[in-house]
Amino acid sequence: MRIKNATFVVSNSRVDLCPKTRLPEFAFIGRSNVGKSSLINMLTDRKQLAKTSGKPGKTQLINHFLINQQWHLVDLPGYGYARVSKKDKKEFQRYVTDYFIEREQLVNAFVLIDIRHTPQAIDLEFMEWMGAQGIPFSIVFTKADKLAESKIEPTINAYINTLLEGAWESAPPFFITSSSSRMGKDALLDYIGTLL
Ligand code: GTP
Ligand code: MG
Repeated sequence: MRIKNATFVVSNSRVDLCPKTRLPEFAFIGRSNVGKSSLINMLTDRKQLAKTSGKPGKTQLINHFLINQQWHLVDLPGYGYARVSKKDKKEFQRYVTDYFIEREQLVNAFVLIDIRHTPQAIDLEFMEWMGAQGIPFSIVFTKADKLAESKIEPTINAYINTLLEGAWESAPPFFITSSSSRMGKDALLDYIGTLL
């Protein structure tokens, strides 16, 4: 799929205020600073469509973008950001969980994982929660440019093995990406195309 058109629609912290249209929707979620907003800019070929930052905690709302007048792409706040207050953290968690439970338009979520890190409890728990809720998701490994090419395959294999040793009988689809080198762009967009 090619993205010809990408426009910002709305930001909000309440799932009931998200766009009422029935367009299919794809959401990007993962730990703070994992590269969600950067990936969205890479996929859409827009440098600043989604706001990015070197400091974790940049995206604080549910952000809808309209793609090709056909589907919504959603940028979500990251989980696991230690430096926001407990109250704010609860607040984020509440509207992100509400979003996943209530948003009927959601076709698939992409759970982003920094390829440089060994499996982290917070990500594994989040994926288990998604599985328990019956929410379809895929894994997107980010920042592949930060790892030597020879290390990519063994790293991914080790990660997938951890999932299979844990709660999962089969691994979800996964993608290896880099917002810097644009690796994985076509594979991810083509996958979305097959689900539309
Ligand atoms: P929050 O909104 O805070 O949850 O973060 P986010 O997941 O949206 O991350 P964001 O896209 O803002 O990127 C965080 C940092 O990682 C920025 O400094 C980006 O430049 C950097 N970054 C993101 N993707 C890549 C990548 O593929 N390669 C490299 N080298 N850096 C990346
Ligand atoms: Mg962000």
